Amino acid sequence: MKLSPSEVVNISDLRRLAQKRAPKAVFDYLDGGADSEITLSENTRAFRDILFRPRQAVALGQCGLSVKVLGREISFPAMLAPVGYSRMMHPGGEVVAARAAGEAGTGYILSTISGHKMENVRAATSGPAWYQLYLVGGRGAAEGAIDRARIAGFSALVITVDTAVAGLRERDPRNGMKELLGGSIFAKMPFLPEIMSHPRWLAGFLIDGGLPKLENIVIPGKGPMELLDVSASLAQSAVSWADFPWIRQLWNGPIVVKGILIADDARRAVDEGASAVVVSNHGGRQLDEVYPSIRALPEVVAAVGNQTEVLMDGGIRRGSDVVKALCLGARAVLVGRAYAYGLAAGGYEGVKKAIQILRDDFERTMRLLGCPTIAELNASYIEYPSSWKAH
Ligand code: GLV
Repeated sequence: MKLSPSEVVNISDLRRLAQKRAPKAVFDYLDGGADSEITLSENTRAFRDILFRPRQAVALGQCGLSVKVLGREISFPAMLAPVGYSRMMHPGGEVVAARAAGEAGTGYILSTISGHKMENVRAATSGPAWYQLYLVGGRGAAEGAIDRARIAGFSALVITVDTAVAGLRERDPRNGMKELLGGSIFAKMPFLPEIMSHPRWLAGFLIDGGLPKLENIVIPGKGPMELLDVSASLAQSAVSWADFPWIRQLWNGPIVVKGILIADDARRAVDEGASAVVVSNHGGRQLDEVYPSIRALPEVVAAVGNQTEVLMDGGIRRGSDVVKALCLGARAVLVGRAYAYGLAAGGYEGVKKAIQILRDDFERTMRLLGCPTIAELNASYIEYPSSWKAH
């Protein structure tokens, strides 16, 4: 679906269109956070605590925007984060998001909670693709997924460590998420009128075959798992440091540990063999009232920045946010909602637009800052609260 340039100037515009097009249950799953949504809103707000200190009248030629992440060059320092249930947001789901990432020269991370087969997602992108592993379905299913990911050509495994249980995303039970995904027709009934009031989304969903299976969680001897609601999925997803040795045995490529907020955990991840860590609070969807990710970044960079690559996610809505994260020592960022709004708003075109908005913003900010290359971005280009450096 084409999106008109006057309709979509920034990521908030894509959010507004996503809200119009998708049923409330789908939009709120994507948009919402845990409990009081304090961390959800702080993730974006905290970027405002960072102010720029530009160098004026710097004659810049070409701005170099590419960076290397895990040894592979990406065209600008933002990759697409794992987003569960992408196929519910748009039938193209993970496949079109991966395709748009590859065409833009950047990377895509596939969530375990995905509706398209990982082989098809991998084939859709020319860029780097990583697989994010949850232990839903048990160890047998995870072992099978690790094998498939290697054969399909995923180049890194991402282990999310902040899902001891599912956070309470209060919007989901209000919207009948559990009933809609797994309940009887009687249980679903109260929530159906809202779904029916989005005929374009509904038509796409029905043509796509209705509720997809979790194609990348194959229970040995049983086949792909039926779609579960997110709290049931994450309830089976807890990973502990004790799982790392067996995962390492099966996967000899790089491992990325996502969900780190404090220095001690960052060091532990490095000890367990992480090639990169992602400073993340799961987009404010797990423990509420934790640090916004950008505020946690300096501590983690100070602890492990000279031993491993540090990435971050959470709250990125503009290219200037990406610049700020890099000034604080991130090698690159992951964006989740920013592109998922585009996916829900307009499928492939929406994701493409989201990436283009962030990339153009990023380059404009670099130029206005008077910084010619990413390698030269550092904390001298910003002012930020001194308390962020504590610990
Ligand atoms: C899945 O990981 C989610 O946060 O919904």
